[in-house]
Amino acid sequence: MEDQEIASDVKAILGLQLPTDPRWVNLAHISLGEVLTDHAYCEQKAATSCISLIQRYNQKEKLVTELAPVVTEEWGHFRLVLAEMQKRNLKLGKQRRDEYVNALAQYCQKGGAEEGRLLDQLLMMAMIEARSCERFKRLSEGLEDPYLRKFYRRFMESEAGHYTLFIELAETYIDREEVRRRWKEWLDYESEVIRSIDIRGDRIH
Ligand SMILES: [Fe+2]
Ligand SMILES: [Fe+2]
Repeated sequence: MEDQEIASDVKAILGLQLPTDPRWVNLAHISLGEVLTDHAYCEQKAATSCISLIQRYNQKEKLVTELAPVVTEEWGHFRLVLAEMQKRNLKLGKQRRDEYVNALAQYCQKGGAEEGRLLDQLLMMAMIEARSCERFKRLSEGLEDPYLRKFYRRFMESEAGHYTLFIELAETYIDREEVRRRWKEWLDYESEVIRSIDIRGDRIH
């Protein structure tokens, strides 16, 4: 019952087509050091992706203005995770190959009009934020340690805000109907990606 509630909740908020396998939280609990390492790099990548978008779309004033503080926020997230690891005597491991993000990147339109490419880049960011938000929600509800549950609750809220922002930015520059149409395609594609990736307890995605 509880899982169904989580599933419908996540679907309602983020539109995700496939909820995370409930076994994942237990796996994540087993390899907390690896999950935190992976999480730390996810935050880093979020910050650098926002910087890249600002560099690429310097003439889009709203995008630059809105994403500048997100860079700071994501970097702050990285520092929070790092501090948490240090507190627990866990070492920041090596960055892994990110199958999930690589698979999403393949779906981005490479050529064609700038509008389509911008739309895909914004929707890919929204997608990663949405899935991260869902995973953090899982952790905030499923981990045994009450401190870590709160820790992940805060991340969940923050990433939900980012998800909304990327969709809003897309709607600023591209027709709403087109954003919705393409977002549905992204949701379907992402659920296939999630299905094709092994459930592992040592990573966020
Ligand atoms: Fe973040
Ligand atoms: Fe984020």
